[in-house]
Amino acid sequence: GPGDGVQVNFILQDGEEVSVQAHEGESLLDVAWANDIDVEGIFFLLFLIGACEATLACSTCHLILDPESYSKLEEPTDEENDMLDLAFGLTDTSRLGCQVLMNKELDGIVAKLPTMTRNA
Ligand code: FES
Repeated sequence: GPGDGVQVNFILQDGEEVSVQAHEGESLLDVAWANDIDVEGIFFLLFLIGACEATLACSTCHLILDPESYSKLEEPTDEENDMLDLAFGLTDTSRLGCQVLMNKELDGIVAKLPTMTRNA
């Protein structure tokens, strides 16, 4: 019921919003992986993110957060910042999804997948 989980709203590259329930302590990357079979669209995300399995050795789990949620998080580590610098489409509210752990404070967080580079 209400209060048991943390609602996470992913915004996919095509603009579709997908709302899922997460558990406290899960990373945003865990949440994306956990929902791959249930939610069409997140399956696509699976191929894009989490290449290094949360070892801070890639930037494929880059997500753009809503400013309010971003401000509730602890500062990224130097290691995370180094990897973020390599991420395409970096913004002021960008984080690596594998480093952002869910808690009740973050209920309603919005995590947008960066738009991949592509010639129009
Ligand atoms: Fe590689 Fe997050 S999964 S840095």
